[in-house]
Amino acid sequence: MPWTRKDLITLEELSLDEINQIHATAAAFKKILGRSVKKVPALRGKTIVNLFLEPSTRTRISFDIAAKRLSADVISFDASASSTTKGESLRDTAENIRALGADMIVLRHAASGSPLYLSKLLDIPVINAGDGAHAHPTQGLLDTFTMREHLGSLKGRKIVILGDILFSRVARSNIHALKKFGADVTLCGPSTLVPRHLTALGVTVSHDLRGALAGADVVMLLRIQHERQSANHFPSLGEYTSMFGLNKTRASWLNPKALIMHPGPINRGVEIDNDLADGPNSVILEQVTNGIAVRMAVLYLCSGGQPENVIAAD
Ligand code: CP
Repeated sequence: MPWTRKDLITLEELSLDEINQIHATAAAFKKILGRSVKKVPALRGKTIVNLFLEPSTRTRISFDIAAKRLSADVISFDASASSTTKGESLRDTAENIRALGADMIVLRHAASGSPLYLSKLLDIPVINAGDGAHAHPTQGLLDTFTMREHLGSLKGRKIVILGDILFSRVARSNIHALKKFGADVTLCGPSTLVPRHLTALGVTVSHDLRGALAGADVVMLLRIQHERQSANHFPSLGEYTSMFGLNKTRASWLNPKALIMHPGPINRGVEIDNDLADGPNSVILEQVTNGIAVRMAVLYLCSGGQPENVIAAD
């Protein structure tokens, strides 16, 4: 099937076939990234604007590198030095960027729904780089890409997402992708951050850490997202760590070969201990590296490229 989407807004709307197409394209780009000349001319002449209106380290740099590896011209928008500080709206900002000749916008925004809004307004591709607590599709794609590299098929694999699920766009995007791959997903954490109604997503909800971790193939830690919480959802960080932080004893409940994952940024000593974040089961930095190939695939496909052209050239 040819790739037909202009935008990437959520993983919920993608078919399994489309996710497989992105992963296959990313795998081909990953091989190119391993060569001495890492650049391909696929997006030569195109201008990509990284419009990040919320802080980011990994996603922003990863999209920058991905666009450069595809030979695109990249403009990274510094929100603090822009006219958004003078009250310019998102719509006006984006329409002006379009008028300046952008061929694609990568948007991170604190408001859920902003990438969808821009995608309907603009005739150029809009890529969601994280919108509020709603979705972070390229994170879900790179996480599942990393899991598949290690585990092969995800069908029937026990994947535990542990932490602040309520405010996590990463959790939502992973859940949608993992369900399509047939994984058995458990969400775990305090009941205030992992409410029962999340079972509507087709997952298991557990507040029993030992039971949730028992025999799991993957545990994905999430940080407490203070910036999106308007109330205290647990008494203190110390109490959170004592009940749900991943330490050596708790990690021994996992499958011995289990992958330890985290989208970053990590709060060491809160949701995960140092020796696990840096230990042999951790694939946290591999996730970051894989983000470049996955984002190259997304930029390439949404610009009108076709998977078979990259896969055949590989
Ligand atoms: N994983 C992630 O989105 O990290 P950043 O906020 O640093 O981009």
